Amino acid sequence: MNSLVTASQLSPVEQKNNQLLLEKIRLYWNAHIHDLEIATQPIGSAGFFKELDAYRFDKLRYLPQVVNFAGYKNQNLLEVGCGVGIDLVRFAEGGAKVTGIDLAEVSVDLAKKNFEQNELPANLLVMSGENLQFKDNSFDVVYAHGVLQYTANAQQMVNELHRVLKPGGQAIMMVYNRISWLNGLSKLMKVDLEHEDAPVLKKYSISEFKGLLKPFNHVQIVPERFPVKTKLHHGLKATLYNQVFVGTFQALPKSVVRPLGWHIMAFARK
Ligand SMILES: C[S@@+](CC[C@H](N)C(=O)[O-])C[C@H]1O[C@@H](n2cnc3c(N)ncnc32)[C@H](O)[C@@H]1O
Repeated sequence: MNSLVTASQLSPVEQKNNQLLLEKIRLYWNAHIHDLEIATQPIGSAGFFKELDAYRFDKLRYLPQVVNFAGYKNQNLLEVGCGVGIDLVRFAEGGAKVTGIDLAEVSVDLAKKNFEQNELPANLLVMSGENLQFKDNSFDVVYAHGVLQYTANAQQMVNELHRVLKPGGQAIMMVYNRISWLNGLSKLMKVDLEHEDAPVLKKYSISEFKGLLKPFNHVQIVPERFPVKTKLHHGLKATLYNQVFVGTFQALPKSVVRPLGWHIMAFARK
């Protein structure tokens, strides 16, 4: 399948524009740390990271069911777009040897604090996932949750994830599903999605996501992330959502609604 991996075919002008866009993306994420709005504890404190972890794994309660954070003991794992390192700490707690990179230095500084608070080792670096400074075939596992949809050139990032992954290694990725309950609801209720104002936010259909993942040998797609009560929004729309929509949706058979999951998880092999 390696023949399908092509280096970026961008012209010099397109490369320059891509760099300018990446700079905008970096500035945005330095100013909009993911889930920060939910935190009440001082930024960087142990309580702050506990709060972000609790919030994330309540909202994404599917995640530990489909990703075995304790299942990569002694394996070299790279997270691209690690944010403040909430998931990466879980991998490290499970015994993985972790490297985390993010374009935004504010995130990487906080991820370092997170690992310090948890007394866990990690290699944390400011770097673009579109230009990874690692040799080919370096990692047993690569992980990018909620990142491809925000970068300038998602295909370039996929190619890089594939390049640094060892043959037979596993890539775990997530993008947003355009044909999903949340995208539909947000348009119907005129409520912006989180980070809708980011310089890039691309939503994919399942087949478009599969197309992006062509460099990989074997790809398993699992749509996830169904409604849970919001802690972020308040007011009439939020009350209606929490009191009526969530329960009604949860009563529907998973087999019927599964394709409409907001998060398209991909588990791929090189
Ligand atoms: C929605 S946040 C997700 C953070 C984390 N993965 C999580 O799930 O909480 C998106 C992250 O991707 C990072 N990001 C976007 N483009 C990137 C790139 N080209 N290289 C590395 N990180 C990037 C942003 O800085 C931000 O931290």
